Parts: sequence; C-alpha cells; structure tokens
Amino acid sequence: MLPDGYVLHPLSADDSSALALAAARNREHLRPWEPSRPESFYTDAGQREVIAGRLRQVELGLYDCWLLWHGTEVVGSANLQNIVRGAMLGADVGYWVDHAHLRRGLAVALLEHLVQRGRELGLHRLGGSTMVANVPSQGVLRGCGFEEVGRIPAFLYLDGGWRDSLLFNLVLHDGPPRG
Ligand SMILES: CC(C)(COP(=O)(O)OP(=O)(O)OC[C@H]1O[C@@H](n2cnc3c(N)ncnc32)[C@H](O)[C@@H]1OP(=O)(O)O)[C@@H](O)C(=O)NCCC(=O)NCCS
Repeated sequence: MLPDGYVLHPLSADDSSALALAAARNREHLRPWEPSRPESFYTDAGQREVIAGRLRQVELGLYDCWLLWHGTEVVGSANLQNIVRGAMLGADVGYWVDHAHLRRGLAVALLEHLVQRGRELGLHRLGGSTMVANVPSQGVLRGCGFEEVGRIPAFLYLDGGWRDSLLFNLVLHDGPPRG
C-alpha cells in the first residue's frame, strides 16, 4: 500500500513536462542502472516522443506503465514490459523511485501494484532482473516474494557496458492460459 501523499496514475500523453523534470532530477541516481540516454530524454519534447512510443505499446497490449506522483512531481514509475501471451504468458517488471523519496517502502508498493496488474491481465509469471551490484533492487524483489533463479552473463547493455544480471521469478498462477 502507498504511504499518504502518494498516488499512482497510468502514463498519459500529458505527463511529458513532469517526466522531463523527474528525469533531470534523477539523472545521476538512475545512470548506473539504465541504458545511456540522449540529451533529448531530459526535455519536454523528448519525453513527448518517449511517451508516444510507450502509449503505442500499451495499445498493442505489450506494455503497462504507471507513474507515481507526489503533488505535482513524478517521483517514480512502475511498468510491466515485454508482455507476452501464448505459452509463456509473462512479463518483466521495471521500476524506479526518486532519490529524495527512498526507503519509504515506495518501491515495494510499486512492485505490489505490478503483481496485482499481472494478475488482472491473467499473466502466469513475472520476471525481474537486476545488475549484480543493485542490492537495493534485489531487496525490493525479495520483499515482494520473487525468487532468485540464476545469473546471466552480459545480459543487458546498461550505463555503457554489457552487465551480468541476477534473474528473479514470481509465479502468479498455475492454471492454463485464458482464452
Ligand atoms: C531500487 C529502488 C527502486 C528502491 O526504492 P525504495 O523505494 O527506496 O525501496 P523500498 O523503500 O521499497 O525498500 C524495500 C527494500 O529494498 C531494500 N533496499 C532498498 N534500498 C536499499 C539500500 N539502499 N540498501 C540496501 N537495501 C535496500 C531493503 O530490503 C528494503 O527493505 P527495508 O527498508 O525494510 O530494509 C531505488 O533505490 C531506485 O530507484 N534505484 C535506482 C533505479 C533501480 O535500480 N531500479 C530497478 C532496476 S532493476
């Protein structure tokens, strides 16, 4: 559950300026754990393009994206990405929390929301991956019941290099795929 003063809303086309400001405020905080970003990522116009791309993916059922708001500021986000149907019926989780709002249980609340969304979408499993050094994120995944299932060498190109990742898994249900 979210602490008082925080609300979650689905990503909307109107969020570009708040997202650009959040990206700029958190540039150094997020840099070690994310792909390298072009300068446009920190601008209103750049975020309008990013959001348009993400909303197209939402329409196709491939992506589910939520923003965490504190007053007029975006202070985090949570998304289900790579949503796959058929025999796999799963998705990968992604999240971040603003550097000025850490250690308040927000990331756990974001991930619990993603687990609930996964259930609403009828998914069978959720996956998480973190760089080996990302101990905080591993704590978030474990805190939400995800199980560590292995390590993949050179899994993601983050912060300018191919990084090993720890993989986490959460099974949501064992029934057959719906429909
Ligand atoms: C990882 C991140 C989302 C955690 O956000 P947060 O809101 O501070 O996390 P929470 O308050 O919900 O913490 C939940 C648990 O995670 C672990 N944790 C969080 N921050 C930690 C830290 N700095 N050191 C060690 N463990 C930490 C703890 O187990 C914590 O539980 P506790 O507070 O009861 O000890 C945040 O640090 C962040 O945005 N990091 C950069 C982006 C990122 O790494 N995203 C995930 C990519 S895989």
